Amino acid sequence: MKRFFLGDLAGPRMTAAKVGAFLIATLNDSAAHAAAPLNYLTGHGVRSRPIATLTWALMIISVVVVVIIVALLLAGLRRGHGFSAPAPGTQMPVARPPGGASWIYVGVGISTLVLFVMTVWTVVTLAHVANPPRTDDALRIEVTGHQWWWEVRYLSPDVSREFITSNEIHIPLKRTVEVDLRGADVIHSFWVPALSGKTDVIPGQANRTWIEADKPGVYRGQCGEYCGEQHAHMGFEVIASTPEEFEKWWNSQLEAQPNASSELAEAQNTFIAKCGICHTVRGTRAGGHLGPDLTHLISRRAIGAALLPNTRGHRSAWIADPQHLKPGNYMPRLELSGPELNAVSTYLDTLN
Ligand code: CUA
Repeated sequence: MKRFFLGDLAGPRMTAAKVGAFLIATLNDSAAHAAAPLNYLTGHGVRSRPIATLTWALMIISVVVVVIIVALLLAGLRRGHGFSAPAPGTQMPVARPPGGASWIYVGVGISTLVLFVMTVWTVVTLAHVANPPRTDDALRIEVTGHQWWWEVRYLSPDVSREFITSNEIHIPLKRTVEVDLRGADVIHSFWVPALSGKTDVIPGQANRTWIEADKPGVYRGQCGEYCGEQHAHMGFEVIASTPEEFEKWWNSQLEAQPNASSELAEAQNTFIAKCGICHTVRGTRAGGHLGPDLTHLISRRAIGAALLPNTRGHRSAWIADPQHLKPGNYMPRLELSGPELNAVSTYLDTLN
């Protein structure tokens, strides 16, 4: 099934057909999380499952309440159908039918009981998922929210195994992942609906959350707190894989990029000159920290904080005019010449 990005919907040609295709893809595909990326009604880990159960219970009770209220309202309307208003100036007799107040006592009693049970259930669930069940072998990562992308640092007791990536979080299956949250500018919120609830990302405050996945797959994450113009496009992806695949991925991410071969040297120099002030490619002189680390860019699934699929075409379009695709973001339009744009794209293609 075609994978949809929010960026597919935007743009000048947003047609009813496109919106329809998006909705159908979202509703159809329940097994793969890709097409209903922010579905929070199914949990995929020890943390999210109790939350999903609670969500369903609250939703069902809310629906039942609405149905009861509508039924009583309709019954009341039917009963009052034969009522004719008294003529103006006449006194209207006030009659209190016996037993009427019992509706109020019973209604208030039932509502109070249900609300009390749900409050207790909610508090118990929140307390239960606040801390991971076991933390001795937890993987630790540090996630920093920036306007409008995510920086991810993998922590290790062995400092030489630490590295930084962005907008894509790989985790091993069935292992607790502790996430230290840092805010670089304004308040954001870290949210992976299928794996956990939201946790605020606040500048100057160290918040911590945790996630754990028990099914391999791609889980969509999203900033859950309005943080400025491109809040809606501050997405990320969590990719859960087996411990072996995860270890392989980690090792590949640790590698620095080699110095470009002679035929690529000019492309690399163009990249360093035009992009290196804001972006890092480890192993080269590009060492900026304002934008995402690009060392293994090609290994990622998306660009622009989960905005667009990571293809050469999308990368070139992004570099040519990032303000068109994500207006207001902090990457300026660089006014590159055709050959310069081609050189930068050619160099990026090598960043596996
Ligand atoms: Cu960051 Cu909304």
